[in-house]
This record gives sequence, C-alpha cells and structure tokens, in this order.
Amino acid sequence: MAYVSAKEMMTDAKQRRYAVGHFNLNNMESIRAFLLAAQEMQSPIILGVSGGTAQYMGGYRTIVGTVKPFMDHLGITVPVALHVDHGTYEQVLEAIEAGFSSVMFDGSALPFEENLRLTEELVGICRQKGVSLECEVGGIGGAEDGVVTMGELADPEECRRLAELGIDMLAAGIGNIHGKYPPDWPGLRFDLLEEINRVTDGLPLVLHGGSQIPPAMLQRAIAAGICKINVNTECQLAFTAAVREYIEQGRDLMGSGYAPRALLAPGVEATKRVAMEKMQLFGSAGKASA
Ligand code: 13P
Repeated sequence: MAYVSAKEMMTDAKQRRYAVGHFNLNNMESIRAFLLAAQEMQSPIILGVSGGTAQYMGGYRTIVGTVKPFMDHLGITVPVALHVDHGTYEQVLEAIEAGFSSVMFDGSALPFEENLRLTEELVGICRQKGVSLECEVGGIGGAEDGVVTMGELADPEECRRLAELGIDMLAAGIGNIHGKYPPDWPGLRFDLLEEINRVTDGLPLVLHGGSQIPPAMLQRAIAAGICKINVNTECQLAFTAAVREYIEQGRDLMGSGYAPRALLAPGVEATKRVAMEKMQLFGSAGKASA
C-alpha cells in the first residue's frame, strides 16, 4: 500500500523542483475525489485534516481507519500521506497514536521560545515513529475553522532556528492567507521567501492558502523553494457550485435524483477536476513512480 510519510515526497520535490499538493479533507466525498485525482495524475498527494474535520469525521482514528481501506478499495498505488493540518501539540500526539503518517504542529500563536521547545520535543517523537513533521512560524492569516486572523510575515531568524531542530517542512507567513484573497491583495513576498529559503538551508518550505494564487506566482514560489502547497477553499467552492447547479437544474426532483450519492456526485467530480489541475500546475503530475 502507498500509505507513506511526506518526508520522501518532500526530498524528491525539492530535488526535482515541483510541489506536492496538500488537499484538505472535509467529508467522505473529498477522500474519494482526491484519491482518484492523484491516481489518475500519477501524482503523490498529502491529505490534510484540520481539527474541525477531525471532529466532524469521527476523530483521527476513524479517519485513518477510513482512508487506508479506501485506498485499497480504489486500488491506489501512488504515495499518499495523511497529515494533520494546523494541529495543537495534543492533537498531533493523538493523531500520531491513531496512525497518521505526517503532522503539522502549529505553534505560531505561542511565544516563539515555547513554539521552539514543543517543536524540539515533537522532532524526537516523530523521528521515532517515522512520521514527517511540519512546523509554522509567522501565522498565516485568513479564516480557518471559523477563526479569522491577519497574516504575519515570518522572521527569517526564527525560521532558521526552527529549521535547525531537524523538522521536515516549514510553513512561514510570506503574505499568504487562508480563504478567498481580497481584490487588493498585494501578492506573495518573494524577497522574504528567498531569504527564508537561504537561511533554512534547503529545508522544504510550505505555502498555505494556495487557493486563488495566480499560476505564475505559484510557479515562482516553487522555484524559490516551496515544495508543498495547501489547497482547500478552491476545492470547496467547486464542490458547492456543482451541487448548486444540480439543484438549480431541478435534477434532484427527477427520478431518484434526490439520493445523496447522486446529489453529491457532481461535487466529487468538480473537486477531482480542481485537484487534477493543481497537480499539473504544481508539477507533481507523473512524479509518483519515477
Ligand atoms: P485555502 O483554503 O486558502 O486554500 O488554504 C488551505 C490551507 O492552507 C490549509 O492549511
């Protein structure tokens, strides 16, 4: 089975200058859509689970126990990592215990020395368990699980000190935000990204808030050291628009079109399409087997 940590994915992405897509799970339909997209594109994939999704889907154990057999059932052969998105220290430990292959500890809201101390503890635990570890400095703004914050710009010196601990991936605020970007968004701070890439000495970097960032900007970010791009909002928008169209066309009122699987099928297709487009754009398509 192709259930793996994100460590080797990141090493390959760094070497061959592409980014692996991290797609957030929201429900059963999203698991199907993303696994099928990755298999069809022969792309590695990271499935992200926020605290809100974990609550909704029955906890970390239920999610591990669903994703793994789902992969078998669909005959998935490409590398798949199951990753905690923006976890607290406690959530990360719980998810590792439940069998997640990758975790993100988000200590960006803590005093930096506390973030550093907890990260160091987690480096030891993750190494021992073979789980990959992402950490964050400089909070990413926008809306996540109903909490809205303004984006911060990461301090390169703090990035360097976190990187030194031996983490596998670093998420650093470079003007990116979660959710829809406002029309007057000034764009990513490439000067800061280049500086962080320099001081972290080749550590794979992560771009959160990957929805709605113009393709040329994403490609420039990949060239500057981004190896993982998180996408959620664009997939959600596509899912909801497709289901809305189904209802507006009155298809739920025809025959057995009211059945939940029929109602949500266009949403699954739309989500899969967005994920496949992103895999092409990020350059991860075709990288699963080589
Ligand atoms: P978007 O919802 O803006 O795509 O961001 C996703 C994300 O960064 C999850 O951590």
